[in-house]
Amino acid sequence: MSYLIGIDIGTTGTKTILVDENGHQQASALEEYPLHTPQPKWAEQDPEDWWQATIKTLKTVVAESGVDKTAIKGIGLSGQMHGLVAMDRKSQVLRPSILWCDVRTTDQCHYITETVGRDLLLQSTCNPALEGFTAPKVIWLREHEPEIYQQTSTIFLPKDYVRFRLTGEVAMEVSDAAGTLLFDVKERAWSQPVLDLLGIDADLLPQTYESVDVCGQISGEVAELTGLQAGTPVVGGGADNACSAVGNGIVREGRVSASLGTSGVVLAHSDEVKVDPNLRLHSFCHSVPNKSYIMGVMLSAGGAYRWFRDTVADREVAEARTAGVDPYELLGQQAKTAPVGSEGLIFLPYLTGERTPHADANARANFFGLTLRHQRSHLIRSVMEGVTYGMRDSLELIRDLGATVTQIYTTGGGARSPLWRQIQADIYQAEVVTINIAEGPAFGAAILAGVGTGVYQSVEAATDQMVEITSSTQPISENVEIYNQYYQIYRDLYPALKPQFDQVTQVVAQQSSDN
Ligand code: XUL
Repeated sequence: MSYLIGIDIGTTGTKTILVDENGHQQASALEEYPLHTPQPKWAEQDPEDWWQATIKTLKTVVAESGVDKTAIKGIGLSGQMHGLVAMDRKSQVLRPSILWCDVRTTDQCHYITETVGRDLLLQSTCNPALEGFTAPKVIWLREHEPEIYQQTSTIFLPKDYVRFRLTGEVAMEVSDAAGTLLFDVKERAWSQPVLDLLGIDADLLPQTYESVDVCGQISGEVAELTGLQAGTPVVGGGADNACSAVGNGIVREGRVSASLGTSGVVLAHSDEVKVDPNLRLHSFCHSVPNKSYIMGVMLSAGGAYRWFRDTVADREVAEARTAGVDPYELLGQQAKTAPVGSEGLIFLPYLTGERTPHADANARANFFGLTLRHQRSHLIRSVMEGVTYGMRDSLELIRDLGATVTQIYTTGGGARSPLWRQIQADIYQAEVVTINIAEGPAFGAAILAGVGTGVYQSVEAATDQMVEITSSTQPISENVEIYNQYYQIYRDLYPALKPQFDQVTQVVAQQSSDN
């Protein structure tokens, strides 16, 4: 029997799993670390924390599984996208990593859009300049910390820094490189025209590989620290979203996933690079060799539901504690008693601004349409519905690009609720299915390791063998009709409220600068 390891360098922690060649998990370990916000809008982490968490979790899974180390055929890395790690010639990290959820770079995004031009962004990087992406962070470093920029000899993304520590290799793979905004997504190579216009030296950037390519081996020192065999191959791996897609079987044309985690991600595999002409969707290289995917990201999806639980639903949380059940179960039971469409109560889920489709940090959440008739059950249901309308916004953009969407694989916390699955089917107007695999990006990374080391023939073959549909929810036509009417109103609310979102943001900023 062959075994594989997947490591996911996430934002809350690093998760490492060891699976057998049939995809059955033998051991898993999670090590959390802090996220620092030294200033408003900043989000940083210490790469040393990722490294320590990687070593610890590797050591645990090797020991706990009891597997012979020579049977571990390969390791795959997955990671949070876009984070900037700056390292000098002596292999020292020069400052904390600036993360994907850091939004200090609005000015740098404007600079990039003006300097590169929308046309080249559209043709080459296939994405707009967004605060979360890496290029604006590089420009920020050059402008605000020039002495550090001068000393930087290599720019890494989070998982690629960990690869460097595991293997000594300076390498990146295409799915994460695509999220830098310095990469030509169609050519699967660094975009020289974009680098030239921005004045960024290509020597700062690692060589890129496909996700399944072996691009390093476990060093002797790491072998001693973890119990792994020195020389164990490490493949390129992938961005967390690409790896999740691999683990969920989103590896063929027509496959679409809707993930309701803290953020919401709607992702569609695409054999060819498809680009939204208005750049509202992300178009990235997939971890399936030479394929790509399109994706919409909602910043508060399951996160909005959790916010409701934590700030409004203290009654249900207390009852759940007494009864020894999950508070979400009680919330779900109450939501079910409210009618489809929550009698006209519409929740706008922009608790942390929004990425797709509005790319607007000033957008704010709302309960629209409250009347005396509305009870707590309506509020709960409307949060589920509002988040799902937001997911449909991304789905509509994906449909507009010509993708056929008939069956949607739903994952994440939101997929566990039968009610939320029905709401999804009714609002998406498509069959919604769940699958047998819930391990997330680390599982996809392990599959990539298996493909790169010959355990599997291809990514598609591996997932065909492992991913099974476990439930199916069909849309109910009367509900579809009702939701269609409310969705139109939902869509009109953001543009109608946009001036007020900007005004409120200004007043709040003024007030906090006065204090
Ligand atoms: C994708 C993105 C997030 C991070 C989270 O563009 O910013 O999904 O990858 O880990």
